Amino acid sequence: MSNKQPIGFFDSGVGGTSVWKEVVQLLPHENTIYLADSAHAPYGRKPKEEITQLCIKNTEYLLSRGCKLIAVPCNTATTNSIAYLREHYDVPFIGIEPAIKPAALNSKTGKIGILATQGTLTSELFNKTQKAFTKDVNTIEIVGTGIVELIEAGKKDAEEMRDLLVGITEPFMISGIDYLVLGCSHYPYIKDMLQELLPSKVKIIDSGAAVARQTLHILKEFNLLNAQKEMGSHELYSNHNPKVLDVLTQEIDSRKVSYLDF
Ligand code: DGL
Repeated sequence: MSNKQPIGFFDSGVGGTSVWKEVVQLLPHENTIYLADSAHAPYGRKPKEEITQLCIKNTEYLLSRGCKLIAVPCNTATTNSIAYLREHYDVPFIGIEPAIKPAALNSKTGKIGILATQGTLTSELFNKTQKAFTKDVNTIEIVGTGIVELIEAGKKDAEEMRDLLVGITEPFMISGIDYLVLGCSHYPYIKDMLQELLPSKVKIIDSGAAVARQTLHILKEFNLLNAQKEMGSHELYSNHNPKVLDVLTQEIDSRKVSYLDF
């Protein structure tokens, strides 16, 4: 395995680019390939077996392109299927999980909110993590029904989104949380809107930076850091709507966004 080979990423759609950007910023010399499986979004309402089959398809493509490491910036895919992937493929995998631990440790009101997909909130891995870190706090878990669909449709800033979020945030408003954990990689794209709707004392956290740090750590451990001097190049593929993928990633230079039937 050469350290010049790309890092592969896949998500149910465009949301994982919120994490991909953190990785690209921390590791600017790495080459990357990103798969937005938007044709099958949302994963969050699919059964575990189907999510795993989609993860296998995405992984096989990334491996066929010689990826040296695969990041799965999708909470739903990680919590349901990363154990299977790690068991069946030799390449290292980096997953993402809701940042429950820092929220629980830092909460002063003893109440934290978690916004995630149904698939994540019902997964075994999520429930295990939740049990381990929330003994002393109450958690208010809400499924973000409809958010992923609007982001995939390029409507992250639309009035429709605001209307949807007013309803979704209501239980958080009345429960007195002081931390809101974003448990879906699409949600950082609506962080500002959520912050406007929630009391200003509520801190909203996601796991993107932690995934980037973990990627650096694993690349070092496996001696896979790209030593090239030039900046990395980035290929991003969508099997549904490359335009939305293009708009969300425009601040990163040297990227190429295309349609791919995968
Ligand atoms: N972005 C994904 C996540 O982090 C999945 C959203 C979905 O497809 O339901 O959970």
